[in-house]
Amino acid sequence: MVEENHLTWHEGKVTKHDRETLKKHKGAVLWFTGLSGSGKSTISVELEKVLHGLNVHTYRLDGDNVRHGLNRDLGFADKDRVENIRRIGEVSRLFVDAGIVTLTAFISPFQRDREMVRSLFQDGEFIEIYVKASLEACEARDPKGLYKKVRNGEISQFTGIDSPYEAPASAQIVVDTEKQTVVEAVEMIVGYLKVNGYLE
Ligand code: PPS
Repeated sequence: MVEENHLTWHEGKVTKHDRETLKKHKGAVLWFTGLSGSGKSTISVELEKVLHGLNVHTYRLDGDNVRHGLNRDLGFADKDRVENIRRIGEVSRLFVDAGIVTLTAFISPFQRDREMVRSLFQDGEFIEIYVKASLEACEARDPKGLYKKVRNGEISQFTGIDSPYEAPASAQIVVDTEKQTVVEAVEMIVGYLKVNGYLE
């Protein structure tokens, strides 16, 4: 492929391993998935703060934020969501190559796309976190007033209403935000990272 496109891969003299050694921890992606209003952004923001306090070099990529810049050309049709997740997968790969613990908060509604992103990473580098909450709970929370707009006919192709959400079948971590507080969810994820050797 490289030759066909007349492209050449340039190896650097500083490796991913070198960068991880400097940081004293490995890179990984913590991939949050769930309905709008499930708690992805809230939990990832709090988790990042805790990890930073543990001297972990982090970066957070969030759906709303990334759609203001890199992905401002994309909407919410299925094909746009696929492209959104493909780009974020590639960006996450670069961050992990930089040795950074990357937290992503995207609905990422399609199982196939999440599996495609997983395939970009080495074993153990991609940690899928399902932020579970029923559509009813998310609609009752309605933190941005989006569900109300959907019901008023102002927004279409909304996840869980007239656009599908495929819940993960085998996420590494499931947090249930109808039963757990944000603090409990963060503790659970930090516990997973410690038990599995990501944190000391
Ligand atoms: S996706 O499905 O992964 O491509 O979506 P994502 O990039 O995470 O963007 C989701 C945020 O966009 C807002 N929004 C919508 N979400 C779903 N469906 C429709 N039609 C839509 N229109 C706008 C909404 O604020 C989502 O943020 P969260 O944090 O999930 O509520």
